[in-house]
Amino acid sequence: MKTYRIAVIAGDGIGPDVLAEGIKILETVARMDGTFSFEFTHFPWGCEYYLKEGRMMPEDGMDILKQFDAIYLGAVGFPGVPDHISLRELLLVIRKGFDEYVNVRPVKLLKGAPCPLANVKREDIDMVVIRENSEGEYSGEGEWLNKGTPEEVVHQTGVFTRKGCERIMRYAFDLARKEGKSVTSVSKANALNYSMVFWDQIFHEISKEYPEVETHEYLVDAAACHFVRDPGRFQVVVTSNLFGDILTDLGAAIAGGMGLAAGANLNPERKYPSMFEPIHGSAPDIAGTGAANPMASIWSASQMLDFFGYENYGKLVIDAIEDVLVEKKHLSPELGGNAKTNEVGDAVQEKVAARM
Ligand code: NAI
Ligand code: MG
Repeated sequence: MKTYRIAVIAGDGIGPDVLAEGIKILETVARMDGTFSFEFTHFPWGCEYYLKEGRMMPEDGMDILKQFDAIYLGAVGFPGVPDHISLRELLLVIRKGFDEYVNVRPVKLLKGAPCPLANVKREDIDMVVIRENSEGEYSGEGEWLNKGTPEEVVHQTGVFTRKGCERIMRYAFDLARKEGKSVTSVSKANALNYSMVFWDQIFHEISKEYPEVETHEYLVDAAACHFVRDPGRFQVVVTSNLFGDILTDLGAAIAGGMGLAAGANLNPERKYPSMFEPIHGSAPDIAGTGAANPMASIWSASQMLDFFGYENYGKLVIDAIEDVLVEKKHLSPELGGNAKTNEVGDAVQEKVAARM
């Protein structure tokens, strides 16, 4: 029997609560299938760990994680630890260190999920954003000179490499070709006259390798407008690290909210483990109340199933989430219900079992 070894970094706030439900679903799928299993190893890394140890994860953290088939992450960040530390010293270390250069964020409005947009059909919100995840605006390049003086100067540069742009675009085109969809590139070449002109040029080059794939291009500000006014025009969207970060929160807002938004950080070559996470944070405002919606973390578990080659089960898990949304009996408070995190997880588990 194949066993997948998963490193669990539940993290802070609502992280542990929502991950417990995703684990429940993965275990249910594996048990009912019978040909594979999961082995979960929990690591107590995150902000609480930082306050005790002075670091977000141990020095040999990456060596430890390297031995796993995947990483399942809840959320990191909590009041008392500056966000640039919690993000940069754990999440970004893993994304960069394991060359997880593809961030896959589905923006799909499930049946029964709330949508704040008027005059938009549910089927029109069905896209996947492929966000560059290893360089760009989040490369961490820059300088802080004359700190604390009147001559203080800060500059932060983006790093766009030919290799980095080509590989993220090829990933998007391969996906679009496989699914018979269009690719839309989102950039900002009018204002960012080096990085985004370069991005656009490479997009044109790569698109020639895929003559059968329809392409579109928007400036990021216009794209934000279209996300709200006419989301049906987007199918596969490829964009930079920063633009993808912002656009996918907008995507989450139009597709049911933060409680329903998942993201996979992939190393497609499978040289290193990939990481699966809900895109929301640790939600300190509701931590400890049992009000967190675990659907985003369950969705990210479905992306893990996809990545391991069980795409039929990945889809089944999404369908099970949809069943629970349509039934409306076990919804968390932000979706208008009063079910606790574990009750939502139980309801999804029941639907998964019924569909297996
Ligand atoms: P957040 O995503 O934690 O919360 C934003 C709002 O959405 C809050 O009102 C929260 O209650 C709600 N929300 C989020 N997830 C929810 C869920 N599953 N169910 C129901 N409601 C949910 O973002 P915020 O408040 O900006 O950040 C809080 C902390 O999390 C910060 O320390 C931040 O740095 C960190 N963070 C970590 C991320 C990660 O680990 N990947 C991503 C985003 C933020
Ligand atoms: Mg974000």
